[in-house]
Amino acid sequence: MAESMKGLKRTHRCAELGTGNIGEHVTVMGWVQKQRNKGGIIFVDLRDRSGILQIIFEEGDCGSEYFAKAMKLRSEFVIAVEGRVEARSGAVNENLATGAIEVRAESLRVLSESETPPFPIEENSKTKEELRLKYRFLDLRRPDIQKNLMVRSRVATLTRAFLAEEGFLEIETPTLIKSTPEGARDYLVPSRVHPGSFYALPQSPQLFKQLLMCSGYDRYFQLARCYRDEDLRADRQPEFTQIDMELSFVDVDDVLDVNERLLKKLFKEICGYDLQLPIQRMTWKEAMERFGSDKPDLRFGMELHDVSDTVRNTEFAVFKGALENGGSVRGINAEGQAHMPRKKIDALVEFAKGYGAKGLAYLAVQEDGSYKSSFAKFMTEDELKALVEAMDGKPGDLLLFAADKNKVVFDVLGALRLELARQLDLLKKDDFRFLWVTEFPLLEYSEEENRFVAMHHPFTMPMEEDLDLIDTDPGAVRAKAYDIVLNGTEMGGGSVRIHQSDIQEKMFEVLGFTKERAQEQFGFLLEAFKYGVPPHAGLAYGLDRMVMLMVGADSIRDVIAFPKVKDASCLMTEAPSPVDEKQLKELGIEICPEENSQD
Ligand code: AMO
Ligand code: AMP
Repeated sequence: MAESMKGLKRTHRCAELGTGNIGEHVTVMGWVQKQRNKGGIIFVDLRDRSGILQIIFEEGDCGSEYFAKAMKLRSEFVIAVEGRVEARSGAVNENLATGAIEVRAESLRVLSESETPPFPIEENSKTKEELRLKYRFLDLRRPDIQKNLMVRSRVATLTRAFLAEEGFLEIETPTLIKSTPEGARDYLVPSRVHPGSFYALPQSPQLFKQLLMCSGYDRYFQLARCYRDEDLRADRQPEFTQIDMELSFVDVDDVLDVNERLLKKLFKEICGYDLQLPIQRMTWKEAMERFGSDKPDLRFGMELHDVSDTVRNTEFAVFKGALENGGSVRGINAEGQAHMPRKKIDALVEFAKGYGAKGLAYLAVQEDGSYKSSFAKFMTEDELKALVEAMDGKPGDLLLFAADKNKVVFDVLGALRLELARQLDLLKKDDFRFLWVTEFPLLEYSEEENRFVAMHHPFTMPMEEDLDLIDTDPGAVRAKAYDIVLNGTEMGGGSVRIHQSDIQEKMFEVLGFTKERAQEQFGFLLEAFKYGVPPHAGLAYGLDRMVMLMVGADSIRDVIAFPKVKDASCLMTEAPSPVDEKQLKELGIEICPEENSQD
């Protein structure tokens, strides 16, 4: 039976009460976490988003009618209790914020009953994620998820306050926009009024924020919902939120400066972490050569060593072949791991192959100075000695080498470095290592499309000193682009934009756009640029990723209220779903079953 709360007003959230409230008369409301009947006394753990409070029912205090009701309470019933705050009669519970008090009930109302939930509502749930996501409304009651969403809300509030203080205007941009083919795949929305035409959901507000700069708003921000139809991973969702910003009359340093101060504030207020400014900067080239990654995790060393020159004259076919093909030989030193059993090393070789390696050569320097190795027999004693030296190897170390084209070597060793750190437990979640990665290549060659594509997007400004290379060596041109990396995750990125039409035209040309196609796709931007465009630059954070790092969650799903799973579906609402024939007809859409299958 569900009672009304007429005449009652909640005075406190459960965990807002403490020893300072002893003696007060209070009204609390929430969910029953647990009811224990100890004969003449009933204990109820009452839960709301603030935490848990112990309620005690004794027939002498609350009367037999309320006591009888309390006897029937079950988990997840919603109740309202009036009573008096007292010092706890039993032992103090050190694990609870309210562990030193309890509320002695004087009345009880059951506001609603609950069926037995499909899993217990508790912290660190062992329940399978699929079941939790199907019943996400229950999962969201769990304290750890509630904490994450509260942090998220706080990040949004602090960000808004900080940016407003810095003179940024919060402006919304549309989410039904024109489809542009660069970047990830678009989500499309059919138009009823224009049969056969589609809107796209924005992958980011990029073009609109640049237009806002043309319109003179000079500092813009938005907590923007973005949509990308790409393969999902632990840190990727098809819809996600960006803290997106754009500034006029600025260069790289101005953008980095205001963002460093924003990050300092957020990490201080949320995590109590004192971020030392300025944040370290590293060029893309240095990041790749030292860490094999454009988002290096700086919580541990194990840097890459280029040993190409050391093994240049070796007869070992694997090394020799890679060097002859214009590649390199590089290694990492897993210090103190020479004792690693063969089976585990074999697993690392398989791991490396997963990243495109043809193999992984290893050399363990034994305590007595001898070697256990997959390739020592192909090399002379002197060559081996030089190699160990080049790797800063000492007795007890395990050296791992990849020989291939640079891209493969970086991919393999970058991933292997992280895998070893995971195995050796070197990744501490409360250690925050920030890094700006700068000077990204402007373009990367797509084997698939047989042309250069923009590494960031087609509006990113090349570095002035590389402008001459655009025609002769486009792959070597560096961009005024930057990423903010935290503990090996790309948390945000941005760039200075092109504001000169001749450079923009050149960029489209290099990307293989005809004048007509550039006009068709981006005509409105090019047109706007004809009427006075300020130099501008910007950046966007993945809000979800930022919160994930702040709370130390393993998955982005743990910081999003209603996330999607790997196949981009929602287990709770079962979206996406087929629609009525009538809806399709209105849109002029017909479904061809065979083309609609997995592809
Ligand atoms: P970019 O594409 O690098 O830049 O995106 C910015 C940040 O958004 C986050 N992010 C994601 N988070 C969750 N799920 C996803 N699928 C996903 N994709 C990206 C990342 C990333 O660093 N318009 C430019 C920004 C600019 O130049 O100002 C942009 O969108 O944390
Ligand atoms: P093989 O002569 O093919 O038996 O290889 C000798 C050792 O080199 C083995 O440990 C292989 O795993 C390793 N190896 C093979 N290809 C590569 C490569 N491209 N880079 C590094 N090591 C490799």
